[in-house]
Amino acid sequence: MHINGYINTIIDGNCVEVMKNFGEELIDLTITSPPYDDLRNYKGFVFPFEDIAKELFRVTKQGGVVVWVVADATINASETGTSFKQALYFREIGFNLHDTMIFRKKNPIPQIYRKRYNNEFEYMFVFSKGVVKTHNPIMIECTHAGLELNGTTYKNYSKNEQIREKLAKPVRDKKIKGNIWEYVVGKKQEDQEAKEHPAPFPCELVRDHIKSWTNFGDIVFDPMCGSGTTARVAVEMGRKYIGIDISPDYCEIARQRVTRIESKQTLFMVNEP
Ligand SMILES: C[S@@+](CC[C@H](N)C(=O)[O-])C[C@H]1O[C@@H](n2cnc3c(N)ncnc32)[C@H](O)[C@@H]1O
Repeated sequence: MHINGYINTIIDGNCVEVMKNFGEELIDLTITSPPYDDLRNYKGFVFPFEDIAKELFRVTKQGGVVVWVVADATINASETGTSFKQALYFREIGFNLHDTMIFRKKNPIPQIYRKRYNNEFEYMFVFSKGVVKTHNPIMIECTHAGLELNGTTYKNYSKNEQIREKLAKPVRDKKIKGNIWEYVVGKKQEDQEAKEHPAPFPCELVRDHIKSWTNFGDIVFDPMCGSGTTARVAVEMGRKYIGIDISPDYCEIARQRVTRIESKQTLFMVNEP
C-alpha cells in the first residue's frame, strides 16, 4: 500500500511487519515507548527490538527524530541496563544520540523498600538521523530576569564549541528549558481516557515533543502506540499521524481517542498558528 493509505490511521499488527510496507525517509518524528524488560504484561506479545530500531532508521527522514521512552526492570537485585543497551544500538545503526532526557514523574508509584530510593523517572532518548532539522525550543522564565548580574559565565560542553560567554546584562526574561521534564501521570481528564492501558504517556509529554521537533502538517509516528496518546495529540496539534499496536484491543482505544479529537475539530477547524 502507498504510504498515503497509512496516514491518519491506527493499524493492528506487529510494527516490524507493518513498517516494511512503508517507503524510506517518510517520518518526521517518532514518539514511542517499548515494553520495558517484560515489566508489564501486554497480552504476551513478542518484542523484536533490533528489527524495530533498523526499520525506524529506514523510515525516518533526514534530520527526523525518534524519541524512545524507556526504563529498566530490576532483576536479581540489579537494574538490567536494557535502556542503555538500546540507546547504544540506535547509535550503532546510524542514529545520533541527540539528547538523553529525563521524564520525571511528579506522582511516582510508591515501591516496596528494597534498600534503594523510590524510582521516579524514565529516560527519553532523543535520536536523530543526521543533524536535527526542526527544533522549536520550549522557553521558560529566567529566575533572575531583569537583574544586572556580574561576572557569571557559562560554558557549552559540545566539542569545538567550548566558548565562555558573559551572561546577558540584564538577565533575559526567557531561556531554553532544561532536559528534565516533569509531569503528573494519569490524573488529568485527557490522560484518564487511556486508563484501560497499563502504561500510557501523559498527553503533555507528547505535546512538548511534538512542539519541539515538528511543524504543522508533519508526520508523527508511534509504532507501539498502545492507547494512541501520540496520535491523539498529533491530531490536536494539526500534525498527521500513524499508529501501530500489536493488540487489537489497544488499537480500538486509540481509534476512539483520535476520533473524539477529530470530531471536535470538524466543529472548530485547526489552523496553523
Ligand atoms: C509502553 S506501551 C505504549 C503505551 C503508549 N505510549 C500509550 O500512550 O498508550 C507498549 C505497547 O507496545 C505494544 N507492542 C509490543 N510489541 C509490539 C510489536 N511488536 N508491534 C507493535 N506493538 C507492540 C504493546 O501492545 C503496548 O501497547
